[in-house]
Amino acid sequence: MTLGEIKEKALAAIAKAQNLKDLEAVKNEFLGRQDGELTTILRSLKDMPPEEKRETGTAANALRGEIESAMKSRLGVLGAGSSSSRLDITRPGEKVRVGHLHPLTLMENRIKEIFLGLNFSIVEGPEVESEHYNFDALNIPPNHPARDMWDTFWLPAQYKDKDSRQLLRTHTSPMQIRYMETHQPPFQIIVPGRVFRFEATDASHEVNFHQVEGLMVGPDVNLANFKYVISEFFNQLLNQKTDIRLRPSYFPFVEPGLEVDIKWKGKWLEVMGAGMVHPNVFDAVKYNPQQVKGFAFGMGLERLAMIKYKIDDIRLFYSGDLRFVDQF
Ligand code: DAH
Repeated sequence: MTLGEIKEKALAAIAKAQNLKDLEAVKNEFLGRQDGELTTILRSLKDMPPEEKRETGTAANALRGEIESAMKSRLGVLGAGSSSSRLDITRPGEKVRVGHLHPLTLMENRIKEIFLGLNFSIVEGPEVESEHYNFDALNIPPNHPARDMWDTFWLPAQYKDKDSRQLLRTHTSPMQIRYMETHQPPFQIIVPGRVFRFEATDASHEVNFHQVEGLMVGPDVNLANFKYVISEFFNQLLNQKTDIRLRPSYFPFVEPGLEVDIKWKGKWLEVMGAGMVHPNVFDAVKYNPQQVKGFAFGMGLERLAMIKYKIDDIRLFYSGDLRFVDQF
């Protein structure tokens, strides 16, 4: 074969090569040690006259370089250069990690869904509140001992809003006031949201957690209405007929005030505070307490999630530990 023929055939064969084996064969045919076509010519150089030797030698070596680099780039195209990029259709598939909702989000969504079904509206309020909305308007005046029920994160004095000091809301109840200031009864709302307490952390206390507040106001709303709404709520939330128990209690913004227990796995568990809206609260929003009545309630989201999902430490919700959140 002449150099020209070798070039033509070798390059065509390289272009047609489909795998490493094909390329190996091309290499053998043209560059093989024993009797590769080009090797044979290179070997015969020593018998040529000087003039021809120089000319043929230069051309043959250039052709060898050309063939080698064509093989190399074909190898790259075939992806045989690195084994990881080669497609192996027999390899087991890689598991796709699908994201999912945090247990608290699941709980909140479910609660909203149930109350929407009971014709409640969902509203939200600010996390930074004034002393007025968080305490005073809720019938908790300054220096009243009931303020001790809520250890409070106060904002520095320069954040004073009019006459009212600012704080991180200790409960979702201030939204009762904000909502009633801007709406007229009858209505029924829930207020999900984050709240803050200046407390030591342990298995059942966190400095921030979530509450869902409820408020229903109308001309003749009564405790029987409350009892119906709340047992309907727990039946749906826990997917079973749930016994509830109302115990007398005290919260400044309700009268009478009560604590709601549910029977769960044979035990009574305290799950929310509630009561009939106090006349002083209606006064604060310029409703006439003679004409409207209402019930209010507040519950902790974490506590409900801990009961429903059998979680024994509130801190797990905020740990960012995937071994925990991946279970939901
Ligand atoms: N705000 C109360 C708390 O954080 C819970 C509560 C009790 C809310 C009674 C209410 C209520 O609306 O009527 O401890």
